[in-house]
Amino acid sequence: MTMPVWGIAGHPFIDLERYLDVAALEALHDEISLGLALVPTEYTGGSHKTMGIVPPSLVDAPYVDYGQVLSRMTEAELATFVSLADEPRRFDRARLREYAFGEEKDHPLSRKQMLLLKYRYGVYFPWQVFYEMIPTLNWEDKANGEGKDFTQQAKLHFPRLVAFVRSLPFTVVGRCNILGLDADHHGTVHYDGNPEEPEAEHFITLCPKKNKRLFLWDEAKKKKTFVASRAYWFNDHGYHGVEPDPYFRYSVRVDGVFEPEFLARVRRDWRI
Ligand SMILES: [Fe+2]
Repeated sequence: MTMPVWGIAGHPFIDLERYLDVAALEALHDEISLGLALVPTEYTGGSHKTMGIVPPSLVDAPYVDYGQVLSRMTEAELATFVSLADEPRRFDRARLREYAFGEEKDHPLSRKQMLLLKYRYGVYFPWQVFYEMIPTLNWEDKANGEGKDFTQQAKLHFPRLVAFVRSLPFTVVGRCNILGLDADHHGTVHYDGNPEEPEAEHFITLCPKKNKRLFLWDEAKKKKTFVASRAYWFNDHGYHGVEPDPYFRYSVRVDGVFEPEFLARVRRDWRI
């Protein structure tokens, strides 16, 4: 495989603070943290190794991947695992090996399945707080805004965040998630999308506290380049991860299609 792309036109990331209302963004922290305490959240990540999106040098990192665990389960273990699905009767007990479970698969993990994978097998779910504000089918669906809206629950608990996201320079917003890492957790290094496609997808990461240490990973040099900003764009077709820190951190990722004027201005400013 060729090496994944790195950065955007030589920039590790594009700092977008100058294009946004940074004071308004910082002021969202109280609402977001209160909202997260009130809404049900999920885990995410946990199968990057078996998704094949981890750099070769980190494939043997000691954290446990649930895709590997699932592939090694005995029939009895699998039956217990499936019994914890939200609707276990939908599964034919004679064909349990044929079902694909997990992120970007036919059958997303239920909360109880995630907990069993964690408690019994030691699976590492990097992001222990995941909250989807706009229902989205899958990764490909994130630039599509057709018939989509923020959930009623998101509008109820995060009204200022919703208004802020709607004010961002997108013609389409197709996806909006809050992603939190518990203290000492790291975000496993991976790429998203097509690693050979140099064009970066349109999204903005918001980090009101500027305390989540995202980094780009250079697999050839084994080197991290940290991203420090409250609002940024980067090319997620290249390897990236999050450094551990001894406190909870979150960011909000907004995906869609940038307004052409905004994109032209950014390209001009950053000589892209
Ligand atoms: Fe990612």
